[in-house]
Amino acid sequence: MQLLKELIVEEINRKGKITFAEFMRLVLYHPKYGYYNSDTERVGRFGDYYTSPTVHRMFGELLAKQLDEMWRIMGEGAFTVVEMGANRGWLCHDIIRYIKKEHPRFYDNLRYIIVESNPYAREKQRLLLDSFDVPYETISSSSPPCEGGERGEVFDCHASFIPPSQKRDKERVNLEVFPFLPYDRPDRGSKYLFSDGKVLWHTYTEDGFSFDKIQGCFLSNEFVDALPVHRLKVKNKILKEVYVGYNATKFCEIDDEVSNPALKDYLETNKIYLKDGQSCEVNLGAVGWLRHVTEKVDKGFIVTIDYGDTTDGIFYRNNTENTVRCYYKHNVNRDYYKRLGEQDITSHVNFTNLMNAGRLLGLEVTGFAKQSHYLIALGILERLNSVANDIETILKVKNLIHPEGMGEVFKVLIQHKNIENPQLTSLRPLQSVTISNSKPRKDTGYL
Ligand SMILES: C[S@@+](CC[C@H](N)C(=O)[O-])C[C@H]1O[C@@H](n2cnc3c(N)ncnc32)[C@H](O)[C@@H]1O
Repeated sequence: MQLLKELIVEEINRKGKITFAEFMRLVLYHPKYGYYNSDTERVGRFGDYYTSPTVHRMFGELLAKQLDEMWRIMGEGAFTVVEMGANRGWLCHDIIRYIKKEHPRFYDNLRYIIVESNPYAREKQRLLLDSFDVPYETISSSSPPCEGGERGEVFDCHASFIPPSQKRDKERVNLEVFPFLPYDRPDRGSKYLFSDGKVLWHTYTEDGFSFDKIQGCFLSNEFVDALPVHRLKVKNKILKEVYVGYNATKFCEIDDEVSNPALKDYLETNKIYLKDGQSCEVNLGAVGWLRHVTEKVDKGFIVTIDYGDTTDGIFYRNNTENTVRCYYKHNVNRDYYKRLGEQDITSHVNFTNLMNAGRLLGLEVTGFAKQSHYLIALGILERLNSVANDIETILKVKNLIHPEGMGEVFKVLIQHKNIENPQLTSLRPLQSVTISNSKPRKDTGYL
């Protein structure tokens, strides 16, 4: 933390001040000390916050069902899923496991690309995939060693394991936090190191993605909210940007001229009219990311799941301003300048921005829904009905759809390119959802 602070102060001294977006980029993504480049568990019970895939595998299974429908709409050919910011790989694991079991024809046509910048997370993803025999590409010898972990105790639905043969850095392993499964992992040798694996890893930088155009679906859960944001405010009727400075002993905020004309364009395009004293965040990285995504989609869908709302919802209906928050051990705070590199900093996603930017890039909006709507339309209630005696599962899954849990604040935006008027089950009116009185199913591991 101290080293990161010194680096940031050095940068401020060199430039006089830095934008809040630059500050956020350093604390989250500094290659050595950034929050998202560490081997510390960030998501789940032992991290700082939960995400839907860490709540229950039903989330990933319903997305798998959605992907199968997209594959059929697109003519049942080769289909690539690109998951952005996969963290531990739970979502990928749940999606592929379900497709392999329930939709074998789709599985044969499926390729899954993970784009994850954290090298420790990439290694954990490989360990997780190893648990169910999905071929993945060769492990890069440059990847640093790390261990598996598990989802939160309260919400946990997966046991995971650390292969004893890979316990390379014992100090990092807290056995209470990372329990072993009661079985040994056989040495699988080279037959699992496929160079043309089902799961591949690629990168995303300011220059774009490291793979060729795809037909399929770009998928992200809580990626966009993790991108650095600029902060703007209106002071004495003049638009200002919030910069970060350092005054001998501590960080301070400085209001000054807007650093980039794209910030004013953002306000105009998204019809954000700030009153005197009001403030907002601008996620320019989200637009850049969407541009790169669009370039890579030859034909397909883009599914963006995150917390946030439309401009109307954020600024006018809820009057929410300054949605920049820090998460540390499941507590929310606004102490942006504390625990540098050790707490998450995030902001609500403005989905109007993604819709508008997408239209300009040639994407059509397939639909926009609350997570509760999305999952109910995909059949989550039916699935819950089929596990009626399993109170633990019901309590976990409830969080995904409950209005005071993740059901309302989380939204799903689906955009498409080069597909004629696609009709997706997930976007149908909820009046058409019926719940049959199915008998509880034996737990086969798949719901
Ligand atoms: C908030 S976490 C999302 C976790 C995961 N999707 C989930 O639902 O549990 C954001 C993830 O995005 C990754 N990330 C951020 N910037 C990235 C980039 N440029 N390329 C790839 N991954 C990135 C981070 O390392 C982190 O794993």
